[in-house]
Amino acid sequence: MTTHTTHTTHTTHTTHTTNSTDKTDTAATTRTADVPKSPDAAGTAKAAEAADTADTADTADTAKGLRTAGTTPATVAPRSTVAVLGPGGTGGLLAALLSRSGHRVICLAGEATADTLRDSGIRVRSRRFGAFTAAVEADTELREPVDACLIAVKHTSLDAALTRVPPTALGDALVVPLLNGVEHPAALRARYRGDRVAPAVIRVESARVAPGVIEHGSDFVEVDLTGATAPGPRLDALASVLTAAGVTTRVLGDEAAALWAKMAFLAPFALLTTRYALPLGEARTRHREELESLVAETAAVSRACGAPADPAQALARYDAFPPTAKSSMQRDAEAGRPLELDAIGGALLRAADRHGVPVPVTARLVRELRDAGLPASGHSFD
Ligand SMILES: NC(=O)c1ccc[n+]([C@@H]2O[C@H](COP(=O)([O-])OP(=O)(O)OC[C@H]3O[C@@H](n4cnc5c(N)ncnc54)[C@H](OP(=O)(O)O)[C@@H]3O)[C@@H](O)[C@H]2O)c1
Repeated sequence: MTTHTTHTTHTTHTTHTTNSTDKTDTAATTRTADVPKSPDAAGTAKAAEAADTADTADTADTAKGLRTAGTTPATVAPRSTVAVLGPGGTGGLLAALLSRSGHRVICLAGEATADTLRDSGIRVRSRRFGAFTAAVEADTELREPVDACLIAVKHTSLDAALTRVPPTALGDALVVPLLNGVEHPAALRARYRGDRVAPAVIRVESARVAPGVIEHGSDFVEVDLTGATAPGPRLDALASVLTAAGVTTRVLGDEAAALWAKMAFLAPFALLTTRYALPLGEARTRHREELESLVAETAAVSRACGAPADPAQALARYDAFPPTAKSSMQRDAEAGRPLELDAIGGALLRAADRHGVPVPVTARLVRELRDAGLPASGHSFD
């Protein structure tokens, strides 16, 4: 396992990738004041087609204990070993960025994808980073300790994918899920060391268009690491590694606030646009009353779970998006892919039930989506 060396400044990494058109060094010097807000929070709708990318811009402003990599004397691993379970839109992008930043990256995937990655690396086309190919290692299972394991599969594949990460192989690695939703951290803490699970929220628009081929459509990629239980210095070190690789990363103290902020934005948007198969512009005008109810219900559940919520702000943010914006759940429905409906809508209903919060409109939309027979379970793999 990589031994961490303590530094108070960022380390310049040797890249072993090709065709890079990006200047990753600029990211290494990010300071709090420079942290880019997601596009809607910044008042620009330019990149807002990345609809579920902009959903937690306010989390950092409200969550306690904000730290931005570069603002604290973090311990920085000069060369970390990072496993990435699920080298798709999010995982593939992070794997490629970390690899070209000089870190050892082991992608965990099915046999065919692992073969492709070993042969061809990860090919990225990015609005922000240009086009580049990054060499990565690939395997079907984790076989050695690592510094961190990023979990980047969809919820619908999570259970099957986790069999590729035996708890005994992990050592004391941080386990960092990037999934949308609020329930997976508990499942991961039950399977792995609870004090090493550090749930993260990612804001990006990135798609796996073929095995090992990633299209990064947003001109940003932002990660909020949270760690109710994980050691702060470990989180700071990972945040520094990610930021140096080009991923603007913050460490937030309030896990529930971070996860629910994303949920509070994502759930109404995803449920409404997917249910009516309409882009946001039409959905928000033709189904305004439902949207307002969904936002109010989700905010009430979020508050009941101990996370702040601002329904008026959420509505204003939807209104700021371009009318053509679509949710990723809607895109999955259009493509016939399994939906993360249970992780978003189902989890919302379960939380509402636990806290006795009435959510009639959310319940109806989730029921109608389930009844529509859209694929909701995991696709077979291998
Ligand atoms: N994409 C975005 O822009 C974005 C933005 C914010 C949040 N999120 C969230 O991030 C999470 C991941 O989404 P994503 O878009 O990155 O998903 P994705 O593009 O569909 O990628 C999922 C990856 O998981 C792999 N996989 C599936 N089953 C597996 C298994 N059993 N074992 C190992 N690997 C397996 C797939 O492998 P193959 O390549 O072989 O199919 C694929 O590489 C979701 O919760 C999503 O809501 C995504």
